Amino acid sequence: MSTRLDAEYLDPTPLRVRIDTHRRYSENDHHPTEDVLDALALTGAEALADIGCGDARFLADLVAAGHRGPLVGVDTSPAMVAAARTVPGVAGVLADAERMPFEDGTFDALTARHMLYHVPDPQAALGEFRRTTKPGGAVAIVVNHPHTCPRTAELVAAHASSYGVRPDHSFRASVDSDTLPALMAEVFDSVEVHRSDNALVFESAAPLIRFAESLLGFHGVPADHPDRAAVLEDLRTDVTEWFDAHPGAVWRDPKGYIVAVARTDNV
Ligand SMILES: C[S@@+](CC[C@H](N)C(=O)[O-])C[C@H]1O[C@@H](n2cnc3c(N)ncnc32)[C@H](O)[C@@H]1O
Repeated sequence: MSTRLDAEYLDPTPLRVRIDTHRRYSENDHHPTEDVLDALALTGAEALADIGCGDARFLADLVAAGHRGPLVGVDTSPAMVAAARTVPGVAGVLADAERMPFEDGTFDALTARHMLYHVPDPQAALGEFRRTTKPGGAVAIVVNHPHTCPRTAELVAAHASSYGVRPDHSFRASVDSDTLPALMAEVFDSVEVHRSDNALVFESAAPLIRFAESLLGFHGVPADHPDRAAVLEDLRTDVTEWFDAHPGAVWRDPKGYIVAVARTDNV
């Protein structure tokens, strides 16, 4: 894993801001967790691993809903694994999706939500997902559409580049909703795809500024960058002026994701 990615997920705050923004400012219902659960139709008894578990809110929700089977959160970020370990009944494991420390056929269900695009070799991770899932088990993967939220990404990139920051290709998505189904079809016999098309819509400056700030690390301006405060101040001014100059207008930015579900052979 790249050091930049490690640094980006050292602090869970930007990820939490992004999740909160999608929950509050999506044009249509935004329920990726429910979409995964609908697709998996869990009984609550499954041994389930969530790969790239982030702050483990998905696993915490399963516990709260009465899930009885073993739950494992896997992440390369020590901060995220520490968060997973605070959830009663959840085992947090520091590991890379490309090389997972589990026996063959350990899990009944495996989820990888909004993480596979960070993995340099997604095919290796898919092989690991297949290997560690029992015959008859299910693997559910969520990835974004290509160029998701392009308008805000361009805004952040423009402000970063005005301070001489070059585009950071280490965060370029290795897989997206256009490419995932074919990659999965190479590893699994059948793949079912559920698509969600949506947009972020901001009616005022503050939530857009907060969202843009949460993306700065992906655009080469991490929390400890010497120009971070200046970039953020310019961005804040720019967004505020845009809303002042366009009374009644909204900032709309298209986005979406797929949930792709594969069931392993029952042999
Ligand atoms: C965008 S966050 C998504 C977190 C969570 N799945 C969610 O949907 O809220 C991506 C997560 O994947 C983790 N991650 C990135 N590369 C990984 C890898 N190769 N193996 C395991 N986890 C990884 C990051 O540390 C981060 O916690």
